[in-house]
Amino acid sequence: MTSVNDLRESFLSYFEGQGHTRKASAPLVPQDDPTLLFVNAGMVPFKNIFTGAEKPFAPRATTSQKCVRAGGKHNDLDNVGYTARHHTFFEMLGNFSFGDYFKDDAIKFGWDLITRELGLPKDKLLVTVYAEDDEAAAIWKKVAGLSDDRIIRIGTSDNFWSMGDTGPCGPCSEIFYDHGPDVWGGPPGSPEEDGDRFIEIWNLVFMQFDQQADGTRQALPKPSIDTGMGLERIAAVLQGVHNNYEIDLFQNLIAAESEVYGQKPTEDTIASFRVIADHLRTSAFLVADGVLPSNEGRGYVLRRIMRRAMRHAHILGAREPGMHKLVSALRGEMAAAFPELDRASTAIETALHDEEERFQRTLGRGLVLLDEAASDLKAGDQLSGDTAFKLYDTYGFPLDLTQDILRARDVTVDEKGFENALQGQRERSREGGFSSGDSAASPVWFDLREEHGPTVFLGYDQVHSEGKLTAIVTDGERVESLTKGYTAELLFDQTPFYAESGGQAGDHGTVTFASGARFRVIDVVKRAGDLHSHVGELIEGDLTLGETAALAIDATRRTQIMSNHSATHLLHAALRNVLGTHVTQKGSLVEADRLRFDFSHNAPLTDAEIEAIEDEVNAVVRQNRDTGIKVMSPDAAIEAGALALFGEKYGDEVRVLTMGQALAEQDNPYSVELCGGTHIERTGDIGLFTVLSEGGVSAGIRRIEATTGAEAIAFLRGRAQVAVDLAASLKVPLKDVSQKVSGLVDDRKKLERDLAQTKKALAMAGQGGGAPSGPEEINGIKLVARVAEGVGGKDLRALIDEAKAQMGSGIAVFIGVNDGKAAVAVGVTKDLTEQISAVDLVRVAAAEVGGKGGGGRPDMAQAGGPDGSKAEVALEAVRTALKG
Ligand code: ALA
Repeated sequence: MTSVNDLRESFLSYFEGQGHTRKASAPLVPQDDPTLLFVNAGMVPFKNIFTGAEKPFAPRATTSQKCVRAGGKHNDLDNVGYTARHHTFFEMLGNFSFGDYFKDDAIKFGWDLITRELGLPKDKLLVTVYAEDDEAAAIWKKVAGLSDDRIIRIGTSDNFWSMGDTGPCGPCSEIFYDHGPDVWGGPPGSPEEDGDRFIEIWNLVFMQFDQQADGTRQALPKPSIDTGMGLERIAAVLQGVHNNYEIDLFQNLIAAESEVYGQKPTEDTIASFRVIADHLRTSAFLVADGVLPSNEGRGYVLRRIMRRAMRHAHILGAREPGMHKLVSALRGEMAAAFPELDRASTAIETALHDEEERFQRTLGRGLVLLDEAASDLKAGDQLSGDTAFKLYDTYGFPLDLTQDILRARDVTVDEKGFENALQGQRERSREGGFSSGDSAASPVWFDLREEHGPTVFLGYDQVHSEGKLTAIVTDGERVESLTKGYTAELLFDQTPFYAESGGQAGDHGTVTFASGARFRVIDVVKRAGDLHSHVGELIEGDLTLGETAALAIDATRRTQIMSNHSATHLLHAALRNVLGTHVTQKGSLVEADRLRFDFSHNAPLTDAEIEAIEDEVNAVVRQNRDTGIKVMSPDAAIEAGALALFGEKYGDEVRVLTMGQALAEQDNPYSVELCGGTHIERTGDIGLFTVLSEGGVSAGIRRIEATTGAEAIAFLRGRAQVAVDLAASLKVPLKDVSQKVSGLVDDRKKLERDLAQTKKALAMAGQGGGAPSGPEEINGIKLVARVAEGVGGKDLRALIDEAKAQMGSGIAVFIGVNDGKAAVAVGVTKDLTEQISAVDLVRVAAAEVGGKGGGGRPDMAQAGGPDGSKAEVALEAVRTALKG
């Protein structure tokens, strides 16, 4: 049997043998293409080469590209688990010609590979061509010797492939495999084409056009070739199975699921096993490429996929997180071909575990709600949009999950109603002050980028430079000039000003023009990817385009930023050493006065851990080694041990920063990271590193704030000064301050206890509020009625109990007065509760001190009121009530 791994290798090495350059799969998150959610075909990473925007790295290439089809034009999410051949994640094998060979060779290679190399019998194969493509039909006839009835012409969009609403496209020709008459189905183009007998295995696209947003098509600079063969499909054909989920890779994943869920799949549960296997792959690869579950964009697609799998795990009886336990099986199947699975394994396991834990908290209750809401619905009915929204909003059920659950019962969801409810919520939150304007996306920047190219950044080794003013932008519009007092964004051909990115703040500084005009820069941001836009105010003179200027950054501020940025790298390494390699960066902010670093970790850090982290970082600071900066290929960076490679947007070259010497394995650097930021020259430049605070941000994410250099000294000195001041006011040597303070705290507690005792004793003795001592008698019933100055509500009970014990039979009423407020307590001995209820009496008293109600039992009741000055009046009211 040809395994999936062998098959991938056969394909790639066949095309290497035919002069193609083998490339690793690009990350699933499209680089530089905001129009696309995920890479959904093998050609996507080469889109700009096909359109001519980018020069080809070679005339021919071959890849096995990771693809996700779960949103946008190509979306297979709803079908997974219910059909034999749909996946949200799959691999697309492809060979590409960038203006090199065209139809002739594409067909020859395709036919040669499947019939000779893979050994599929010729009589089991047939092909389709686009209806008007006589040329392709003729080549098939010549190359493969197929009879006319095996070359089927299709006039629909089925044989015209396009990447999306825009982008490269062209007519295509598909190769089909015939599973034989035992399986139901008809050839492509026939009414029975949806059956499983004839299966498309390979699509050869003759790339000729670039689809424009306005509906027109432009010819590509050169006709090219893009092909796509689903690895899982061809594996199924070669392994003699009809269902992709029966190939070796999925069988092994399903076996791992059987272990984790403690059961073998049955006819009833197999769909759940398959959904979990598919979604596990998608989730793992998306996390490895830097996507994390969230409530918007790509993160929300991932969350939907994860939760859909987790619902199926719930069907299998899972009540504890379990999906993360499947990651090792997936790595066993796929990490040899995709090493990012190993590099990101902790991040993947953590993301799956945390998401499942979060969802399991609400999943069960949500299902009960859904069950109740849908109990009256019959096949063909609709669930209300409000219920679907409640499930979404309160129980974390994505809409398509609710739809998926109801689908088995043939019930749909009122999607419009759901949208309305969602819209209503959005409006409410907007009224609450949220907005989402993004001027960085304004078209003016893209035009400027086209005209002038990227800003040349000189700031890695210069703090001032010359530059020519190429654009002035105010309120999103280009202008020709600017007058004193106005704010604007300025572009120059080159600049030493760092633009905010990778968490590092933009530089501040001044631009002085040849004319004498001066512009104060208060921030620098990136526009259209690589323009450095200088934000600020014209403080002197007037500006015109084309002027030359001297650009100078605030070098002191920048030095502090660099020190904090370098310290962030050391902190990251120290966290992994001290807490474990599960620590991954979740966010970072580097400013002049401090740095902030968010990372995955499940518990608050102990003082000892924080100290160990500070010690490590400062030890590396004292090594005072040179910072190493190298530009290299991503592969070489991985080799060098770079952190956080997965998920980064990286091109052919990355900037790798090494700092310090590892404390244990001294041949290695202490920290290796990819980074485009600016850094100190030697670790000693950091001077001193200190943690300012540590806390939680959200489930499983912690935040450290820290600082370096002079700021660190100021912070520590500020702390020390507190101790010095304390020693002076306590009049003890500094070393005795702690002991002295804990002694004082103990003394104070004791005094408070003594004082409370004394107040109670005074109240019992009737001296606290000047009332007479000893019980009085009303209608033959003993009564102790006292105001207890300074006694709190919770101490009254003890007074009542004591008074009752002393009297044997009678009524005790105490009103504690504290801070002007009154707390009332009334006790009635058991023998009298038939006649008199403490609850009635406490209400009488409470009414006088401005309180409402009061409660308790007939023998003991309490209440409170705002007006303690009426305490005596309240006691009188009780006496009057007793007199009846
Ligand atoms: N790009 C083509 C497809 O995805 C090969 O089918």
